Amino acid sequence: MPTLRERLLGVMTPPQSMPAVSDGDGAPLRGTPTPTAPSGLPRSGSAVPARRRAPGAVGAERRTRTFTPRRIEVETLGPVEQLKVDLHRRLVERLDLEALEQVSDGAVLTAQIRNAVADFLRTEGTPLTQGEREDVIEQIVYEVTGLGPIEPFFRDPTISDILVNGPRDIYIERRGRLSRVPVAFRNDAHLMAIIDRIVSRVGRRVDESSPMVDARLPDGSRVNAIIPPLALDGPILSIRRFGAELPMQALVENGTLTQDMVELLSACVQARLNIMISGGTGSGKTTLLNALSVYIPATERVVTIEDAAELRLQQEHVCRLETRPPNAEGRGQVVARDLVRNALRMRPDRIIVGEVRGAEALDMLQAMNTGHEGSLTTIHANSPRDALARVETMIQFASTSLPLRAIREQIASALEVVVQIARMADGTRRVTAIAEITSMEGDIISMQDIYKYHRRGITENGEVVGDFEATGVRPLFMERLQVAGIELPNSLFAQA
Ligand SMILES: Nc1ncnc2c1ncn2[C@@H]1O[C@H](COP(=O)(O)OP(=O)(O)OP(=O)(O)O)[C@@H](O)[C@H]1O
Ligand SMILES: [Mg+2]
Repeated sequence: MPTLRERLLGVMTPPQSMPAVSDGDGAPLRGTPTPTAPSGLPRSGSAVPARRRAPGAVGAERRTRTFTPRRIEVETLGPVEQLKVDLHRRLVERLDLEALEQVSDGAVLTAQIRNAVADFLRTEGTPLTQGEREDVIEQIVYEVTGLGPIEPFFRDPTISDILVNGPRDIYIERRGRLSRVPVAFRNDAHLMAIIDRIVSRVGRRVDESSPMVDARLPDGSRVNAIIPPLALDGPILSIRRFGAELPMQALVENGTLTQDMVELLSACVQARLNIMISGGTGSGKTTLLNALSVYIPATERVVTIEDAAELRLQQEHVCRLETRPPNAEGRGQVVARDLVRNALRMRPDRIIVGEVRGAEALDMLQAMNTGHEGSLTTIHANSPRDALARVETMIQFASTSLPLRAIREQIASALEVVVQIARMADGTRRVTAIAEITSMEGDIISMQDIYKYHRRGITENGEVVGDFEATGVRPLFMERLQVAGIELPNSLFAQA
């Protein structure tokens, strides 16, 4: 482990050096021993390879290209932010780190840092407000106890993803838009130390023998780290933060779907239809599932099954189950399939599988076909049709003996609705289809769209424009809704 001094010194490479030509071991680091990475990683060279410099710098190559990709924005610091960064750096140079290193009590540590900052500001006469001063203190505490330079992003609830590609390329996603941020880790070793801190807290490790790790933080954020030699340009850390909770109303307001579509989907949930939400990575499947879960009556007992628990159901009566990876000796693994089977013995009213990825698809469909209706799940697929094909493949893996036709019959009778969601080019999310699975026609599962998103084009600013349209089809499941006592107006299905 690096010493406290090393950790503290790794704080912030000033933003100007962002294209990162100086190695991170700038002025404040003189005389500091080079920390070794826990895995003995090679340290990065003193300059960042050209292809990792500023992402917008296309330079000479551009002439030969006909297509210019839109540049990724770089966040700039305001004057006060800049001052804080400078102050922070100078402060770290002055602090008696040896003494701080001995402090294990968080409150004492904060108090000592606070005193040091106060002294410093008195002598330097730096014009900081009380609030800014508190910020600086807090940032130094992060350095000692938290995620180093990325901790402020981690605490910012408007940021959904933090992506660290080696020590100097750091991106964040805020409201669906990716931008590069002017902070850096000092070097590979510093980044490795932070990765180590993150994963060891949740009982995992990352080193040469296990160079990839997936973990969930206590707040539900998901973390993936992959390190050299698998990652070629230094350790890569991807934090998918627990996004801000987006209730259905927020999804309507931000144009993900219309009120009419919400009415239809909420009726489907209440009437216990089996619904699969399909979409690409980060398209908003889980968010939509969370939002839909509100319509599950509070009287029901719900069992959720996830690889990394991120569902936040509103009901009181929820049993949350999570799969477990094998331990260091390769034992003790519990997969989703085991949990689905176990869930059936828990007298569930509904089983919610966060995402189907494998053999559990078979057990889930069987459960749906044997009286556990009203299941909700998500799947990684590009269209409703593709979603069914993926389920089919998963079932084939789970049971090679089932003939294809039988598999398709299972799927057709178990699933009623597929909701397709997509992340558009401008970062917004749209429900691009609500499709009903009707029956089998010969060997083919037949489906019909109830709603579709018709994309009309893209504005100059890169915003996607289009409309949600009812296709004019009245779903066959209307009968099921009626049996459940739900009447939907015909206007919901009328073609515009
Ligand atoms: N409808 C939406 N509008 C705006 N942002 C959204 C929407 N849905 C999701 N997001 C944001 O996108 C990110 C990814 O969302 P989510 O985890 O729901 O996607 P996912 O499809 O389940 O991803 P994965 O493929 O990783 O399972 C979150 O930060 C979330 O806040
Ligand atoms: Mg998800």
